Amino acid sequence: EKGGYDHFMLKEIAEQPRAVANTLLGRIDVDGLLTLDEVRLSAEELREINKIIVIACGTSYHAGLIAKYAIEHWAGIPCEVELASEFRYRDPILTRDTLIIVISQSGETMDSLMAVRHAREQHSRVLAICNVNGSTIPREADAVLYTHAGPEIAVASTKAFLTQLVACYLVALYLAQVRGTKFGDEISQIVARLWEMPARVEEVLSTMEPVRELARSLADERCVLFLGRHVGFPVALEGALKLKELAYMHAEGFAAGELKHGPIALIERGLPVVVVVPSPSGQRVTHEKIVSNIQEIRARGAKTIVVAEEGDTSVEPYADTLIRVPAVPTLLQPLVATVPLQVFACELATAKGHDVDQPRNLAKSVTVE
Ligand code: F6R
Repeated sequence: EKGGYDHFMLKEIAEQPRAVANTLLGRIDVDGLLTLDEVRLSAEELREINKIIVIACGTSYHAGLIAKYAIEHWAGIPCEVELASEFRYRDPILTRDTLIIVISQSGETMDSLMAVRHAREQHSRVLAICNVNGSTIPREADAVLYTHAGPEIAVASTKAFLTQLVACYLVALYLAQVRGTKFGDEISQIVARLWEMPARVEEVLSTMEPVRELARSLADERCVLFLGRHVGFPVALEGALKLKELAYMHAEGFAAGELKHGPIALIERGLPVVVVVPSPSGQRVTHEKIVSNIQEIRARGAKTIVVAEEGDTSVEPYADTLIRVPAVPTLLQPLVATVPLQVFACELATAKGHDVDQPRNLAKSVTVE
């Protein structure tokens, strides 16, 4: 049942190209435009939305953080992202024109479910992005977009995350299409790039041996930091979460721009720091800034592990280890940049002798509070 892999997690990491393709399948017409009837809101209702709140927990929350960049950039709708466990216990201002997007692999997470109920009581519409068919959250939401990643058995979420991202991109583009914030040809161009993503993820997977080697060499470290900017920031958070849950190591993700506001005090000789570098062409300014962040931490002795786009030579002098990912449009970079961090955490945990499919103290779906 593990299809020749030692662990479900390895199998699920390897399944990501197919999973990403499955999320796209049947949702794009011959002209490269979106047909998301599943959203079940009329064009008029979609045009009336004036705020989006994305709600989720854990890895799904990280997908939500990335969704915000896409929703604001493509659809031009103000978007907030919130942990379900926080949303429930404050007094969020919700109206009929607020769209709630709840993201949950299992569709059973208690805090996310309670957030859905709360939102519906305030007459907001709820769109669920879920993986498990017929689970509770999709049943209680107004509409659901299934990710079609297939069953995710390993406790640590991998392919569900990538497909959640794709589903979020589709929703953002659909909103842009219906509301006219992007022209049809712009949308079909982005969609064409989305269709290339399974192949790009496959490319990443085929170059992971050095990442595994690196992970094994760090098995005795006590702490790893992760830095990112723009959509690379949630990717850094996700890389740190994977390492915590699988390798039981202290791992922390930061927005690189926050370094000077505190975290730089943590940098000491030999500390491994993973830096997710934005595309030099798509994100010229943040790219420049992050290159100087890498220089700053390296000058203080950090061991820099740099995830950067192919052809980005500017990082070479400052990277102790360089992990290359294919050049893709900025907003789509998390689809390729997350994969090495999944492999890294999985291999490091294995090197420490941990059970990567069943990490201690964790359950696949958190149906209690
Ligand atoms: C991390 C992980 C958890 C889940 C979180 C939400 O690898 O698996 O953080 O992402 O418990 O679960 P769902 O998406 O089922 O609501």
